[in-house]
Amino acid sequence: MSARVATAVAHPNIALAKYWGKKDGEGNVPAVPSLSVTLGGLATTTTVSVDAGLAHDHFSLGGHVTSDAERERVRELLDRVRARAGSKDFAAVTSVNDFPTASGLASSASGFAALALAALRAYGVSSSEADAADLARASSASAGRSIFGGYVELVPGEPARPVAPVDQLPLRVLVCVTSEAAKSTSSRSGMNATKARSPYYAAWVQSAEKNFKELRAALLSRDLEAVGALAEQSALAMHASALAAGVVYFSGATLEAYREVQQLRQQGFFAFATMDAGPHVKVLVHERDADVLAKRLDAVPGVLRVIVAAPGAGASIV
Ligand code: PMV
Repeated sequence: MSARVATAVAHPNIALAKYWGKKDGEGNVPAVPSLSVTLGGLATTTTVSVDAGLAHDHFSLGGHVTSDAERERVRELLDRVRARAGSKDFAAVTSVNDFPTASGLASSASGFAALALAALRAYGVSSSEADAADLARASSASAGRSIFGGYVELVPGEPARPVAPVDQLPLRVLVCVTSEAAKSTSSRSGMNATKARSPYYAAWVQSAEKNFKELRAALLSRDLEAVGALAEQSALAMHASALAAGVVYFSGATLEAYREVQQLRQQGFFAFATMDAGPHVKVLVHERDADVLAKRLDAVPGVLRVIVAAPGAGASIV
């Protein structure tokens, strides 16, 4: 049987203005706008081989067979592509991350961005970057943003789109890895629980709209200090709403690293923290301080290692 094969590479992105929560109804539409920076250095590589000889789809992640839930999400994306291609052929998908999977290091973002791009190509669907971004977004909203490099926005109901290039700010992101384990609460169930149970969910949605507008303006005017401060506010507001619903992603090491970031600021450094649906802390620093501050954060109890990441490129076929 002839197999049509495509391989794509995509990089995680870190939301500076976070999304948390979905709009009611179908379609995986985020409740609030978000703005991210795509990171170079960390990568997911995904190969899709369409093969008329297969009896069902196959999916392996990091050489392992995956859970039913993960396979189902991959199948849903492939079904959307098959519908567009007019194909009934199944595919074998292999995906490899060079960083911890499903632990709040945005592996679903780079994973679904790479899968969307590779699947469109392997099934021979001609598509724009906006099409690929919308396909990825339907599986994992943040994944739409990883199609593009630099700074990227995702406005509810629209495909993700680039806002500013990689060199817009002299920024580095210090990814403080605090666990190699998979997270216990997926972002999907964490945000559903927050929406259902948090007394602060409405306040979060309101504050997120304002934060997004201010952060976008600060980015466009290259105001690094304001971008950092607004990014940290966004993360804290998101986690405050989640915490009030009993959705806790922080570990002891998360808080230790956050306190160190506050101390760095008191010592005059540009350093702001952001945390996603996992225990890691991503610290926004000036590029000139990256090595010095990486050492400081590496010494924090519970921080296993620090990855220095620069704003990077979007997803591509290799
Ligand atoms: O893309 P999802 O549905 O896995 O959710 C990602 C949520 C956050 O990373 C916490 C925030 C964001 O905007 O990326």
